[in-house]
Amino acid sequence: MRIDILSLFPQITEAALGESMMKRAQEAGLAEIHSLNIRDWTTDKHHTADDAPYGGGQGMVMKCEPIFASIEAVRRPESRVVFMSPSGRPFSHALATEYSREQHLVVLCGHYEGVDQRVIDHLVHDEVSIGDYVLTNGAIAALVFVDAVVRLIPGVLGDDQSAQDESFATGLLEGPQYTRPVDFRGWRVPDILLSGNHAAIAAWRREQALAKTKRVRPDLLG
Ligand code: ADE
Repeated sequence: MRIDILSLFPQITEAALGESMMKRAQEAGLAEIHSLNIRDWTTDKHHTADDAPYGGGQGMVMKCEPIFASIEAVRRPESRVVFMSPSGRPFSHALATEYSREQHLVVLCGHYEGVDQRVIDHLVHDEVSIGDYVLTNGAIAALVFVDAVVRLIPGVLGDDQSAQDESFATGLLEGPQYTRPVDFRGWRVPDILLSGNHAAIAAWRREQALAKTKRVRPDLLG
């Protein structure tokens, strides 16, 4: 999959997506991620990317011209253009799974008070929000979005089972996990996990996952 992230702060996404699993996904040729600066498509001397809103009001609005020019430079017929915005559809595991099947994502990041509505009306396919809060910069939301999508591309996680078992894929939150030592400051690993009884361990894990989901996210149980 190819992903082009268009923002005014490409350093934010470039740095974070060049580490750990995202770095490995790119080295393995499973994802090709480009962080591009919308300002590179401005044509005036001052590289103006924003302007005051018509009708008055606080803040600045990102201008049409450099956004149209940048997206038109990178998009192809098969591209899906996603705009990161607190007014978008709520992001979820289900949406991440859908996007992980795309060939080319163009992720547009806002800044200031917003972008000119003509960008949303005539360029963007989907508006996506990562949660009910407002960030200072859409590039931070794009990082979360791209990470969640890329890790679901087959082969990115070493063991494909781990993406299927985890929270949200199963509909339950993940239960507790332990590793050595058995006894840390008197807090012991539950005996069942040391029993070697795989059926009993699986049943215990499910019970724990259900109890945690009931306690923390009863809404997931419907
Ligand atoms: N830009 C600012 N806040 C955002 C949010 N919650 N989700 C996506 N993009 C954003």
